[in-house]
Amino acid sequence: MNALDRVGVVGCGLMGSGIAEVCARAGLDVVVAERDGGAARAGRLRITASLDRGVRSGKLAAEDRDDVLSRLRFTDDLAALADRGLVVEAVAEHRDVKAATLAAVDRHLALDDAVIASNTSSIPIIDLAAATERPESVIGLHFFNPVPVQRLVEVVPTQLTADTVTEQVSAFAAERLGKTVVRARDRSGFVVNALLVPYLLSAVRMLESGFASAEDIDHGMVLGCAHPMGPLRLLDLIGLDTAHAIADSMYEEFKEPLYAPPALLRRMVAAGTLGRKTGRGFYSYGASRG
Ligand code: 3HC
Repeated sequence: MNALDRVGVVGCGLMGSGIAEVCARAGLDVVVAERDGGAARAGRLRITASLDRGVRSGKLAAEDRDDVLSRLRFTDDLAALADRGLVVEAVAEHRDVKAATLAAVDRHLALDDAVIASNTSSIPIIDLAAATERPESVIGLHFFNPVPVQRLVEVVPTQLTADTVTEQVSAFAAERLGKTVVRARDRSGFVVNALLVPYLLSAVRMLESGFASAEDIDHGMVLGCAHPMGPLRLLDLIGLDTAHAIADSMYEEFKEPLYAPPALLRRMVAAGTLGRKTGRGFYSYGASRG
């Protein structure tokens, strides 16, 4: 068994559960470390619902569904990651939380050449690598939501990442997970969020100023530009807390007003209306979904 066949995922929110699912669907043995029991249960339900969807649409055989689930093990103990060849960190988008998580993962890994990848959207990878004793084996591996659907990953080496690690992780994402890889420099927002975040924040500012309604803003981009969803609905999908944290990191890096989180976004996060996951954001959703 190749070392990268044993994957760990830390954090079982929207992104962590999606990453765990695509790894298990790719035939890999996956340990998911999540210390919040409620989040682990919700993540497992999300994965099961997504696999059931796959069976219903004929993309996944019913027996394969059970095989995929059998390749996923949930734990609240990072020590269970000891034998992993690759650990993907997908905890909350906060520098200190991520750095502490990477430092703890690093202490538990038994293989000298084990790789730690962060799914951060906006925090410089080097800041996270510096929290470990293996900065040459730390890299950004940024997935998109919903992870089973979106075909892209961004691979983000730092100045210290070994070339062999970059090649190994790029090949893993492309050949094992079937994703298309774009390589980005270690600069907050990488390629996609550097373009996407100012657009999403502009939509919030447009709504905030009373320039147009949420529905008209979204219809504009769906019907006028053939986007699969409008910017405000997409923010609801991403989660307003995550979007806010990404904007904060990007603003901290560049000090450009276009990255500054608008007051409306800040207020909605304070109010706990975080989008689909809480049942309410720019729109209301029948049942709370993940
Ligand atoms: N999990 C698994 N599969 C899902 C899914 C989920 N959460 N949501 C949708 N799907 C699958 C469905 O099963 C369906 O597959 P099928 O055709 O085989 O049945 C297919 O995706 C289409 O789903 P639906 O028909 O239910 O819905 P839509 O056609 O409206 O698509 C969408 C939903 C895939 C979310 C689409 O609207 C979309 O792609 N939206 C844009 C999402 C986007 O831009 N994501 C990037 C966000 S940025 C990011 O993640 C980076 C971060 O750093 C912020």
